[in-house]
Amino acid sequence: MSGARAGEALSADVAPGARPVVLLVDDDPDMLRLLSMRLGAAGYRVSTAASAEEALARVAMERPQLVLSDVQLPGKDGLALFDQIRAKHPSLPVILLTAHGTIPDAVEATARGVYTYLTKPFDGKALLETIAQALALSAPAGPPRRDADAWREEIISRSTRMAELLAEARLVAASDASVMIRGESGSGKELFARAIHRASPRAARPFVAVNCAAIPENLLESELFGHVKGAFTGAVNANRGLFQAANGGSLFLDEVGDMPLPLQVKLLRVLEERVVRPVGATQSIPVDVRIMSATHRDLDQAMAEGQFREDLYYRLNVVSLALPALAERREDIPLLATHFLARLAKKYGKPAKGFAPDAMKVLAAAAWPGNVRQLHNVVEQVSALSTTAIIPLALVQRALRIPGGEVMTYAEARQRFERDYLVGLLKMTDGQVADAARLADRNRTEFYRLLQKHGLVPGQFRAEPPVAGSPGAGSSVAGSSVAGSSVAGSSVADQRQP
Ligand SMILES: Nc1ncnc2c1ncn2[C@@H]1O[C@H](COP(=O)(O)OP(=O)(O)OP(=O)(O)O)[C@@H](O)[C@H]1O
Ligand SMILES: [Mg+2]
Repeated sequence: MSGARAGEALSADVAPGARPVVLLVDDDPDMLRLLSMRLGAAGYRVSTAASAEEALARVAMERPQLVLSDVQLPGKDGLALFDQIRAKHPSLPVILLTAHGTIPDAVEATARGVYTYLTKPFDGKALLETIAQALALSAPAGPPRRDADAWREEIISRSTRMAELLAEARLVAASDASVMIRGESGSGKELFARAIHRASPRAARPFVAVNCAAIPENLLESELFGHVKGAFTGAVNANRGLFQAANGGSLFLDEVGDMPLPLQVKLLRVLEERVVRPVGATQSIPVDVRIMSATHRDLDQAMAEGQFREDLYYRLNVVSLALPALAERREDIPLLATHFLARLAKKYGKPAKGFAPDAMKVLAAAAWPGNVRQLHNVVEQVSALSTTAIIPLALVQRALRIPGGEVMTYAEARQRFERDYLVGLLKMTDGQVADAARLADRNRTEFYRLLQKHGLVPGQFRAEPPVAGSPGAGSSVAGSSVAGSSVAGSSVADQRQP
């Protein structure tokens, strides 16, 4: 996130009059002035206090959305101030400022609930970013939306590209034009379709979604257009079908690219004539349905290969909306992550309130091939596993399967590989050194030396129950595979779990 974005977030999300109040606490008047100017320029309302006592009074009176306090204060210090704020206002984020070199145990402090530490002298940009992030946490519900925006309230976004798409969606919603929504898996296509329906004059009528890829080919026709009683074996009752179910409303054809060709012909006819004929029926029934569709397939290619009808394509694709992948709108990541976390915490009664700043950085930088759905899954996982109010970096790394800590040196990586490899061989050969050495294509003396180097005792890999607490016994690394690089791969996967 850049500082500019922090400002953008304000102008995009905070209505005038609802600008967040930041309480600055420092006994140095110059510092207070400087910070006030910075934050004022970024659009915040600022309140100041010169001591912890004054700060507590201001918190009670002014209800700030964030406190930014120096650690060194006359009398009660910043940490004591934090503890008192915490007791009464557990969701009010507190950022502490410390002089260079006097940084207290930041891990301990964030575990206690301090949002983060910034070291003086600090970078103005980083300060604004941190504040914007912390504020997103303190008000997870966001500003109250105007009713006019209710149609899109489930779509959480602050990116400009999405704002443009939403504006387009709002425009097309008014018409009956067919909309095709493209985008990677999990990028929010169905959510968008629902939003368009809600913004449309059809909002009071049904929105029906059907996944064309999930229904067996022989059932899809009756599923869509209905059937009469006895139309085919198993048709014990008549079924009016999804087109009629959506009458007056919208029908969302998901994965329309997977629709079999014969059915494409029938669908085209329905769209042109605005009538459906249930399977086995002799009469057609008029339907009034707005069609939206989505597909993960490249329809141009499908058309070129004769797998998708061009005439149907033009019917469905009157308006085309292309949702950007999450990685193309990274500014949405902190917003979405915080939103999901708040929702899950509420649902499961978890203490989770936000992400540690380094954890959020990792989220914001991840690849997200599964887009928003994947982000939601990751947040669900960390929220389920977290025991603290602030989600730590390690949990996020684990959920994203990123090896924790620093990058290993080559020597360390080689050491680890070697040890895992040896453990794997010993397990495989039941601790028989001669066999293990043969598999490794090493002579026994050499092999023993290697075992010694890694403190491995072959006896511990024999079938008899191992001695409790022995070093090799509990090691699960490289348990299943020995060949090639998969040993190193799987062992790294095991060891990255904190
Ligand atoms: N901008 C967003 N704000 C909040 N939630 C979102 C957003 N985008 C997607 N989601 C959520 O992510 C999940 C996936 O979204 P959706 O089902 O709309 O994606 P999709 O593009 O249809 O995916 P697929 O191609 O796999 O069908 C849903 O739970 C949805 O609510
Ligand atoms: Mg979908």
